[in-house]
Amino acid sequence: MKGLILAGGLATRLRPLTHTGAKQLIPIANKPVIHYVVEDLANAGIKEIGIIVGYDKDRIASIVNSVGDGSNWGVKVTYIEQDAPRGLAHAIGIAEGFMGGEDFVVYLGDNMIKSGIKSFVENFKKDRPICSLLLAKHDQPQKFGVAVFDELGNVVHVEEKPENPKSNYVITGIYIFTSDIFDAIKRIKPGKGGELQITDAIKLLVDDPDKIVTCHKVQGWWDDAGTAEAILNANYMVLMDIVPEIKGNISADSKVLGKVGVGENTIIHENCYVKGPVVIGNNCEVGPNTYIGPYTSIGDNCKIKGGEIESSIIIGNTTVDLENGEKIIHSLIGKHSKIISRKNSVPKGGVFVLGENSELKL
Ligand code: DAU
Repeated sequence: MKGLILAGGLATRLRPLTHTGAKQLIPIANKPVIHYVVEDLANAGIKEIGIIVGYDKDRIASIVNSVGDGSNWGVKVTYIEQDAPRGLAHAIGIAEGFMGGEDFVVYLGDNMIKSGIKSFVENFKKDRPICSLLLAKHDQPQKFGVAVFDELGNVVHVEEKPENPKSNYVITGIYIFTSDIFDAIKRIKPGKGGELQITDAIKLLVDDPDKIVTCHKVQGWWDDAGTAEAILNANYMVLMDIVPEIKGNISADSKVLGKVGVGENTIIHENCYVKGPVVIGNNCEVGPNTYIGPYTSIGDNCKIKGGEIESSIIIGNTTVDLENGEKIIHSLIGKHSKIISRKNSVPKGGVFVLGENSELKL
């Protein structure tokens, strides 16, 4: 069985972060989302993985730089370029040659699932359906592909982002296909937004009385890290389970409580309070007089001085210089940002240099 990660697309819901970078590289607990995906496929015993990347040369280079040839995970990675975001079915269709007739797991590059896909893969190998869908219960099914299944666990109906969903089980974006999917893809027409929808191709398999499409329900937490809120939520979920490791230096006058990771060459100066779960990357300087609160991830090369930060992701190479009593919460801050206090400056007021599609809550 092979793997296929979909990492094309434009990720407009995550602008400005995705104006220049790929959403699959946004770090959760300081590790890019796509690394969790490759790791999960490798843990399920998959050795050959195709990654669909878009047409933008810089984005392709950043994904290739980050994932490389897959040897870090003991897998072989092949990159497949998609000329435009023509839909999930198009992205899967262009991988037909790479699959060479084998069964394969499709894993959307922005999906994260705590329990992993091992039992999903094992069940597929045992039952040998034509296709199997990984489903999760969701209170807003209309935002996703939706599946209805019978008492045997066979899928009897699928629909993409329906206004009136017939079930509250959503298709997570993790699928196992046999090569039959390629014929189905060739038979569908573009749907909403002109994209070839994989749900339409799956519907052809579901509606064929000679074919069985099964499903497997996610145990525990699953997320489609497509919005800032979902990314911060994924950060909470992953940080809960981090293994604390202190590599840098912490001043004797500072306090570190709970699960905290501190990277190499990072210094925590005096009078700081770091309350886990928190991860701080390499080559950072924190403090003096700084509070870093629970569910915060700070990437490499950051300088954080004064004030308080909680429940946030600072991706990296960022300066935060705050005064006592100033606080950043529930924030997702891109690389090379600068946040500086004006508490003691006149006239009072915020000063902003914001990129397109920025979001500010004062
Ligand atoms: O996350 C689960 C949902 O994913 C499913 O419930 C839906 O049935 C499925 O259609 C999909 O919906 P999204 O609206 O979330 O798909 P999105 O356009 O965000 O694309 C998902 C991933 O696939 C993303 O990592 C980018 C990549 N992609 C997307 C398109 C449209 C490609 O590689 N090529 C493409 O052409």
